[in-house]
Amino acid sequence: MKRVALATDEVGREMDAELPVLVAALRARGIDAVAVGWDDPGFDWAAQDAVVIRSTWEYTDRLAQFLAWADRVGAVTSLHSPAEVVRWNSDKTYLAELAAAGVPTVPTRFIAPGEAVRLPEDGEIVVKPSVSAGARNSARYTVAQRDAAEAHVRLLHEGGETAMVQPYMERIVDGERALVFLGGRFSHAMRKGPVLTDTGRVDNARVPHPGVAGHTPDTAELAVAAAALATVAVPAGGPLLYARVDLALAGDGSPVVMELELIEPNLFLTEAEGGVERFVEAVARL
Ligand SMILES: Nc1ncnc2c1ncn2[C@@H]1O[C@H](COP(=O)(O)OP(=O)(O)O)[C@@H](O)[C@H]1O
Ligand SMILES: [Mg+2]
Repeated sequence: MKRVALATDEVGREMDAELPVLVAALRARGIDAVAVGWDDPGFDWAAQDAVVIRSTWEYTDRLAQFLAWADRVGAVTSLHSPAEVVRWNSDKTYLAELAAAGVPTVPTRFIAPGEAVRLPEDGEIVVKPSVSAGARNSARYTVAQRDAAEAHVRLLHEGGETAMVQPYMERIVDGERALVFLGGRFSHAMRKGPVLTDTGRVDNARVPHPGVAGHTPDTAELAVAAAALATVAVPAGGPLLYARVDLALAGDGSPVVMELELIEPNLFLTEAEGGVERFVEAVARL
C-alpha cells in the first residue's frame, strides 16, 4: 500500500474541513493516507511515498522554517508542490516575472525596505506584504488616505517586509475567480466576493473567501490561467499535483492574475462536483 502524508498545522487542523474528507477518500482508494503537522518533530517523512502540502496555513509567520522543512522533505521523498516551487511561490514578487513573461497581472509596484516610498496619486490603492495569505496585513486606501497608506508601507518595512502597492481593482465586486487545476488539467472554478470591503485599516480577522459560489470560466480566463501556470518552472516529474490561479477583472473586464496559489491553497474540492474524486485520482497517478 502506498503511503501519502497530507501536511497541515494547528490552524489547518482547526479550519481545513476538507482534510478529513481527503484522508478518508484516499484510504477508500487503497492509499495509506495520514494528516500530519509539518512541524511534527517525530514524523518519518522519508517513509512516505509522497507528501502533499494541504493546509499549512501558519507558514507565513515562520517562512524560513517552513522553506527549510520543504527542502528537507523534498530531499527524502516526493513533495507536492516541490520545494523549489514552494520557495518561488511564497513571495508575490513572482508577479513581476509573470508580467515580464507577458501574462496579464494586477499592476504592482514592489517597494523593498530602504527604497523610496512613492505611491500612485490617483484612485484607490491596496497596500499588502509580498509574503502573505488570507489578506494578512493588507488594506485599501482612498486618495484622501495616502498618509495612512505610506505609514502602512513603512510599518511593513520596519518588519523587514517588501510592500506591494496596487490599484484597487474595482470590478472585484463582480467576483475574484479561483481556477483549480489538478494533475495539470483544469478541474473547476469558484468565484468569491471582495475581501477588502472598507478602507483605511488592516483587519486580520477578515473572511478570506466571502460568498464562494461555483463559476464557469470563459476562454479568456482559462487562457490567462494556463499562461500563468506555463511560467512556473516545475522540476522534473510532470505537472503540479494542484494549482489555483486567482484572477481579478480589469476595468475592461479582461482577466488579470491576482496571485498563483501553489503552496497550500483552499481547493474547494468538496464544493465542486467530482472535485474530491479528481484530487484522489491525481494523487494516485503520482
Ligand atoms: N489590488 C487589489 N484590488 C482589489 N482587491 C484586492 C487587491 N489586492 C488584494 N485584494 C483583496 O484582498 C484579498 C487578498 O489579497 P491577495 O493578493 O489574494 O493575497 P493573499 O490571499 O495571499 O493574502 C483578495 O482576495 C482581494 O479580495
Ligand atoms: Mg488571495
